[in-house]
Amino acid sequence: MAQLHERLQAAMGSAFGGSYASSDPMLAVATKREFGDFQCNAALALAKPLGMKPRDAAAKLVEALEVSDLCEAPEVAGPGFLNLRLRNALLEQQLAVMAADASGRCAVPRAAEPLRTVVDYSSPNIAKEMHVGHLRSTIIGDTLARLLELRGHPVVRLNHVGDWGTQFGSPSPTAGLRGGRRMLITHLRQTAPEVASGAAEAELSDLAPAPRPGLASPCPTDAVAFYKAAKARFDAEEDFAAASRREVVALQSGDEASLAAWRSLCATSEAAFSKVYSALRVDERLVTRGESFYNPRLPSVLEDLEAGGLLQESDGARCVFLEGYTNRDGEPLPVIVQKSDGGFMYSTTDLAAIRQRAADEEARRVLYVTDAGQALHFQQVFEIARRAGFAPDSVSLEHVPFGLVQGEDGKKFKTRSGETVKLADLLDEALRRARADARLEAEGREEGEEFVARVAAAVGIGAVKYADLAMNRQSNYRFSFDKMLSLTGNTAPYMLYAYARVRGIQRRAAAAASLDAPAADSAAGFVLREPAEVNLARQLLRLGQVVSDVERDLLPSKLCEYIFELAGDFNRFYEAHLPSSPPAPALLRPLNAAPRRALLALCELTAAVLALNLRILGIEPLERI
Ligand code: ARG
Repeated sequence: MAQLHERLQAAMGSAFGGSYASSDPMLAVATKREFGDFQCNAALALAKPLGMKPRDAAAKLVEALEVSDLCEAPEVAGPGFLNLRLRNALLEQQLAVMAADASGRCAVPRAAEPLRTVVDYSSPNIAKEMHVGHLRSTIIGDTLARLLELRGHPVVRLNHVGDWGTQFGSPSPTAGLRGGRRMLITHLRQTAPEVASGAAEAELSDLAPAPRPGLASPCPTDAVAFYKAAKARFDAEEDFAAASRREVVALQSGDEASLAAWRSLCATSEAAFSKVYSALRVDERLVTRGESFYNPRLPSVLEDLEAGGLLQESDGARCVFLEGYTNRDGEPLPVIVQKSDGGFMYSTTDLAAIRQRAADEEARRVLYVTDAGQALHFQQVFEIARRAGFAPDSVSLEHVPFGLVQGEDGKKFKTRSGETVKLADLLDEALRRARADARLEAEGREEGEEFVARVAAAVGIGAVKYADLAMNRQSNYRFSFDKMLSLTGNTAPYMLYAYARVRGIQRRAAAAASLDAPAADSAAGFVLREPAEVNLARQLLRLGQVVSDVERDLLPSKLCEYIFELAGDFNRFYEAHLPSSPPAPALLRPLNAAPRRALLALCELTAAVLALNLRILGIEPLERI
């Protein structure tokens, strides 16, 4: 591309006069495959100042352009674009560079300037069930972290668990119920004192509420039930409510017994989260750094806001008012950073976190993977952080929002009986369905249980991940086991089978080769002949561009689109070499060694590129299914 850039500038200079030799040739990657590899739009932009018709300017440019060593003859298209198609020899060279990269990264270039990046993802709330929103955050965040690492950026994975503030036990982080923390702790101390003191361990599901006469006692099989039980007591029992109020004071003043109970609640929840993480094979470097971590830093956040003249008092609360934010009645909308009772907010913690990440972590880019509903929160927090100087302009703060997970009917995602779907159950179901797949359980398969379990995990969990990632993350997505496990369409099973198929061809070819060819056959040499080969080659060579697009706009769906198209190109390539009468495809036929070697080199590279992408997406490619 750099070479083309130079040649175009030289041509502009000789066609239109020396001063044009430094103008921008407006070289871009072709928008469609039919247009070739690159497109130059300079003639369109220069026509006016030159007083020429754009097509004439383009024709003049072509005349002066010397690229025959790189491209086929340039074509003027549409109103005056220049389409440039790289010569096959050049494609072959680039393929060889990709294939020669033994590190598994298929020659994806590293970023010129590595940026230390914090990816804040997953981030569920203590004493609450992880929900499908956290599933999306986990899957998307994990993928982005891997992709950024591939590009050479040092990545810090942070799990900003809601373990303290307003949202501790409240339904939403912005409209919080302050009672959450105190009542959960009170409930735990009263019903399971040994657990509260840390003397015993328990799973959340074991923490049964002591049945109270006259009170409906939901059986707490999970965090939600535990929360509900505590809430019911809080509403109905005077003593309990009073004890809870004392608890919050005790906790804030650092009372040991209180803190121990809080710690054991956190530990119980975290044990539940880590089951989901290991089922999802989330990167083990995801560090839990909950909201409580920032507690000691909150007072100084307030001091700095005060010093910066950003704080205002409103109804006893301390707030920041930003221009342009108003409520429905047109009144200025405050960002509350400290409530009248002295309590801090979700946003206060995020301000402290931004400062810590910029200063201590030395992050240059901070990504927040949460549902789109938190867009306003992040917009405001980012703006305050800038004004207060918590993050200099050299630190990019980016909210990476995603849409809702919906049921197949487009409504709220629930179980048949109307309950919130538990993630652990959902993943179990994915495994069960992948296993029940006829091909896996079919009689006469010689593979053992270990093989079946591994395939079921790759397919089942992979399907859940892929379905999420393949959607543009901004859209709401409808959760459907049938769709995500389908063997056709842009799904994990389709991609996994496509990969296994390529590997199968390679294996059979290798077996055939060992019969008829000497060892010299192994050197990869690309020779592109048929259009199907050239198409496949072009798609393979797009990899670097796709990766850097995703690095910029953080849309993993582009990776899925890319491998889906790649699998299609591979199929067409394969069919083009499949003689009408099976079973001996030309790929395998002991034809003259050189063409076979060239075809196999394409197979090999396709497999490597598919495997790399599947790994970035968090899906284990299988050699055989
Ligand atoms: N715990 C929050 C939730 O469940 C997400 C936290 C996201 N990260 C952050 N730094 N605010 O919605």
